[in-house]
Amino acid sequence: MKIDNWVKVILDALYDGVLIADDKGIVKYINPAYTRITKVEFEDIVDKPLSETRPGARLPSVIESGKQILGAPRKVGDVEYIVNMAPIIESGKIIGGISIANEIGDLYKLSEELRKSNSTIKKLEERMKGIEKARYSFKDIISVDKKSIDTKNLAVKIANTDSNVLITGESGTGKELYAHAIHNASNRQNGPFIAINSATFDGNLLESELFGYEEGAFTGAKKGGKIGLFELANGGTIFLDEIGEMQLGLQAKLLRVLQEKTIRRIGGLEEIDIDVRVIAATNRNLEQMIKENKFREDLFYRIAIFPINVLPLKERKEDIRHFIDFFLNSISYKMKRATNICPEAEDILINYSWPGNVRELKNALEFAANMTDDFNIREEHLPKIIQIQSVKNNLTKLKPMEEVVRQAELAEIEKALSIYGHDVEGKNKAAEALGISLATLYNKMKQASF
Ligand SMILES: Nc1ncnc2c1ncn2[C@@H]1O[C@H](COP(=O)(O)OP(=O)(O)OP(=O)(O)O)[C@@H](O)[C@H]1O
Ligand SMILES: [Mg+2]
Repeated sequence: MKIDNWVKVILDALYDGVLIADDKGIVKYINPAYTRITKVEFEDIVDKPLSETRPGARLPSVIESGKQILGAPRKVGDVEYIVNMAPIIESGKIIGGISIANEIGDLYKLSEELRKSNSTIKKLEERMKGIEKARYSFKDIISVDKKSIDTKNLAVKIANTDSNVLITGESGTGKELYAHAIHNASNRQNGPFIAINSATFDGNLLESELFGYEEGAFTGAKKGGKIGLFELANGGTIFLDEIGEMQLGLQAKLLRVLQEKTIRRIGGLEEIDIDVRVIAATNRNLEQMIKENKFREDLFYRIAIFPINVLPLKERKEDIRHFIDFFLNSISYKMKRATNICPEAEDILINYSWPGNVRELKNALEFAANMTDDFNIREEHLPKIIQIQSVKNNLTKLKPMEEVVRQAELAEIEKALSIYGHDVEGKNKAAEALGISLATLYNKMKQASF
């Protein structure tokens, strides 16, 4: 291989380093830029086999294979540079190879750093997406009724134990609130709190959400795989809401995770250690489901180490009274107008059965407040279903006979007084007409505080 003089002149003028070798890998030429970048002198390398002077050089393999290599990073001693290598082909025959070396400038270093940072950011972003902060603490849980104070005190104690917790209770009783509060009061409070609703995913999807998967684990699996919620919750708490909806197959896998304290991503081989506390919640009767073979008994005992049952609202009447004040306050604040409720309407609310519990009460008050013209809630402003139940309650409510007699007597006295008048003479005549003594009439009026 011969390199013309004028080609040499051009190559010598280049800023990039150039090395040319023949088909046997013997170096035929380097330009001054090559020396500048690599610190190799012309006489030390030219006419010598590249493999001897530059161990690890990849140009010989390019010459052999005919395949170019682009952007290869190279580090010799303290010197770092990037090399593009290509075969030199003449009439279809490989007659040598050329290396072009570029110094790694600051720009390259920066872009390399940027690439690394971007990939870190992407990973962090994926992590952040799953991490929901636990928004509520025990101070957000209203409890004035003795029974609910007991529940809250129990939950505060349980929060410190680090055991798994099962929260049961009807819909809208505040189970989610408790899950948040337990995490926030536990020594995992600075770790992640990851909530997932088992009812919103079908079995396979839920499994991949919980445990993650490796790339290519199934058709439609994302490139690079996906991290599971158990991994995301590491060091913190995972809240498995509506656990009663979880399919049996997945229950078995969950049990395994709780026993082994490791997970394996779908399609993965590696066992990943996890340190996660499970708080589960359900409005279903799991004991009943166990009898019907719809829920695994062994899983039940794993999660129900500490069961908390949040009572239905109707069983804690003192709370209802307090909730009414509390919600009316926040409604007044929102509407920028003081909103009140009359005692009769409040009574109806206190005696209603509240199948939707606290959530229903909150909604009912908001509805009623919007129905009023004067920000005073009366019976007719309450949701129809509550009014209807109240009428039924009244119809079916039996009063003691004594009370019935007393009310009938008073009604009759009132009628008589309205006919004869309220003065002494009127009372005399009324007593005579009613067939009782004046003293008895006074007595009965006193009892009814006329
Ligand atoms: N003790 C409480 N103090 C204050 N707010 C409460 C309390 N209990 C419930 N709430 C409120 O009632 C609503 C329903 O509560 P939450 O979502 O926790 O119920 P849940 O038991 O998880 O219901 P579901 O079974 O339907 O998921 C929420 O707006 C919540 O803030
Ligand atoms: Mg809930």
